[in-house]
This record gives sequence, structure tokens and C-alpha cells, in this order.
Amino acid sequence: VDRAKPLLYGSAYALYAHFALQLVAGGLLATVYRGSASEAHATTATLHQGAWAILQGFHYWGSFVLIIHSVLHLGAVTWAGWYAGKEKKGYFTALILAGLALGFQVSGNALSWDRHGVQTAAVEGAIANRIPVMGAMASKTMLGGTELSDKTLPLWYDAHRIGLAIVLVVALIIGLQLPKQKVPTWTVALSALAALALAVLLAAPFGTAATPDDYGRFDAKPSWYTAPMHGLLVWGDRLMTGGGWIGAALVPGLIGAAMVGLGFLKKPKPAVARGLLAGFALLGLLATITSGGEVASLTGTRDPKVRVAAVPPAVAQVQDKVMAAKGKALFAAQGCAGCHGQDGLKGTTGPSLKDLWKEQPEASYYERYVKNPASVQPGSTMPAYSNLKQEELRQLAEFLRFAR
Ligand code: HEC
Repeated sequence: VDRAKPLLYGSAYALYAHFALQLVAGGLLATVYRGSASEAHATTATLHQGAWAILQGFHYWGSFVLIIHSVLHLGAVTWAGWYAGKEKKGYFTALILAGLALGFQVSGNALSWDRHGVQTAAVEGAIANRIPVMGAMASKTMLGGTELSDKTLPLWYDAHRIGLAIVLVVALIIGLQLPKQKVPTWTVALSALAALALAVLLAAPFGTAATPDDYGRFDAKPSWYTAPMHGLLVWGDRLMTGGGWIGAALVPGLIGAAMVGLGFLKKPKPAVARGLLAGFALLGLLATITSGGEVASLTGTRDPKVRVAAVPPAVAQVQDKVMAAKGKALFAAQGCAGCHGQDGLKGTTGPSLKDLWKEQPEASYYERYVKNPASVQPGSTMPAYSNLKQEELRQLAEFLRFAR
């Protein structure tokens, strides 16, 4: 432990230094960037050009490095027992910084207002909406209304540059109250240098400007750092109907609470702390592996798929009215409407299905999707309805392929 001590302190100082540099980088980017739906994409495009691109890349890759660094750092200081004793402030700082790294990334991801940024924000709002009792309010606060709109962006920008930035400054002040420790000087620059190297080597991802058509769409691939939450969401949905939030919100919340709880121990309890740590790491790993989805590209373009209308069939499609009526009843009875809105026409926690027929006129698509969404769209966040009989799937399909 004594030999590890300078390294742990070095890691702490490197983390603080890197966060402080990102605060400065963000401040510089803010001189060009405008956080309104009409200007965000164009001003971000400017930041992807010329000398700005390095700074923009440093900010983007910095966030990537900071998530990894802050999580590993939190793990290491927990292992070393910083939660009890004279390094307690360093422990709480590590905990806050790990949360901030994620918070900055999630809010920052939307700021470019490209199609990916907007659609992931819509998905995040929809997942919050799944939480019982307080979900509707949480989602409304996040999106600035019942659904994502032009009003969402200024909210996320303010959270990013004001709310989170204030918490960051407070966390850094607490962190600097660590006892003094001599560390190898080079360690302090390591985290920021890693981000700079990535910025020089790899362009930050960017995509085409979002249009209101993207506001209710869920086609974006999840970002890499949401993979564990995504996996847990799928587990929750398997556990019980409407249980996705247990994995996506409750479990991460309990993990956070347990980590905060450790900080209130008077004496180190290595078996407890290390056991929790190992358990959380294993859970995160398993959830990531089973999340089954591809993740959005880390560099280059990150546009979600473009929806293409199908070639209209030569013979006009005719709806089987009896079958569709049964499908309509099932749609209400199975709780589909809770996410896709009444008759699937207005999504809240899921996309609207009203224009889907243009692209998917065939019943088989709906049957396959509803039975096992991930088989059609890897990483889909919709719960599977493997319990439905083929006949019922067919009825739902007959209803949905004419929903408009
Ligand atoms: C918990 C919320 C939720 C429930 C309940 C739900 N869905 Fe979904 N559904 C979603 C989400 C979210 C997506 C988009 C998934 C994605 O793209 O990752 C989706 C996608 C779909 C799609 C594919 C849309 C496309 O663009 O290809 C169909 C079809 C569909 N749902 C039908 C249904 C039916 C039928 C039911 C009831 C048997 C149902 N859904 C229940 C959330 C839900």
C-alpha cells in the first residue's frame, strides 16, 4: 500500500488537473458555440474545423478519458480504503468526479444537436419516464416539456456549463484538501495528455443536423458509456413487465448510495468495500456484455440509420378488419399504448408508430420485432413480448401496419 500511495495521489492530482483544464477548454469553446436549436449545429461545425478542431477534440476525448480515469480512480481509492480516515475528502471527491464525468458526457453529447445527439437525448428522457411515480416529472424536467423539443437544448446547455460546472469547482476545492504528498511530476499531466493525443490522432464524431423529425425517433445506437445501464435495462424488462427502470435507474442509484455510504464509515472495512467493488465491477461487466447492442461510432460520423420508404406494392394492401380489431384491443391490453401512445400514434416512452407503415408494409416485420426486438434491431430498448402467441402477434401486426 505504501508503494501505491504516491501513485494514488498522482492519479488524484492528474484527475483534478484534467478536469480543471476541461473547464478552461469548455469556456473557450463557449465563445463560439451557441446553445439554441437553430444555431447549435452550425456553431459546432465551426468548432470541428481548423485549429478549433484540436480544442474541440480535446474536450470530446477528454470526456472519454475522464470517464475511464475517474471510474478506475474511484475503484483504486476505494480498494485502498480512502473512504475512512484522513483521505476521506479524496474519496468523496473521487465519487463526485465519477458522477460528473458521466453527467458532463451525457449533457455534452446533445449539445452538437446532430441527429445522434438529439435521438439519444430523446431515449434518455424516455427511459427516465419509465420510473414509477416520479418518472413523468423527471422526464419533463429533463426535456423541458412532455417531449423533446427546441426547448430541451438550452436546458442541457445550462446544466452543462452552469450546474455541473459549479459542482465541479466545489469538488475540486474539496479534493485539494487532501493531505500533501510528493508524487512523480509526470503522473499529474498523464490524463490530460492522453486526451490531447487522442484529439490529435482521431477526429471527434459529428453528424448531420437534427430536424424535428428526429425528436421522437429512437434509432440512435447507444453511446459506449451507457452500455452497462442499457444491459441492466434489458435485465429489468426480463425480470418483470415494465421493469426496465429497475435496471436503468434503481440499480445505478443503489450502487451510488452504497458508495456514498462507505464514506460514512469510521474505520475501514476492507472486506465490505472490496466485496462491493468486485460485485459492482462484475455486474457492470456482465450487463455490458449482455446489452447485446452495437454502440455509436466514437469517431467520424455517428448518424443514426436513415429511414427509407419501401417501394409501394403493386397491389394495394387491404387490411383484415377483424384481425386488426383484435390487434387494436391487444395493443391496449398488453400495455403497448403506455409507451407508444393510444393506438401507437403518439410516443412518450417509445417512438410513435404512425409512419412506420411507409417503411414496413409487411406484417412479418411487426411480428418479429414485437416478439424479440433485439433480433431485428440489436440493442433495442423495447421489452420483448416472447409470451405472445403467433396468432396474437399477427393481429398486432395487422393493426400496426395500418396505423396512421
Ligand atoms: C416500455 C416501453 C415500451 C412498451 C411497453 C412497448 N414498446 Fe414498442 N418500442 C419501445 C421503444 C423504446 C422502441 C424503440 C426501440 C429502439 O429503437 O431502440 C419500440 C419499438 C417498437 C417497434 C419498432 C418501431 C420501428 O421503428 O421499427 C414496434 C413495431 C413496436 N415497438 C411495437 C410494440 C408493441 C406491439 C408493443 C406491445 C405488445 C410495444 N411495442 C410495447 C418501447 C415500448
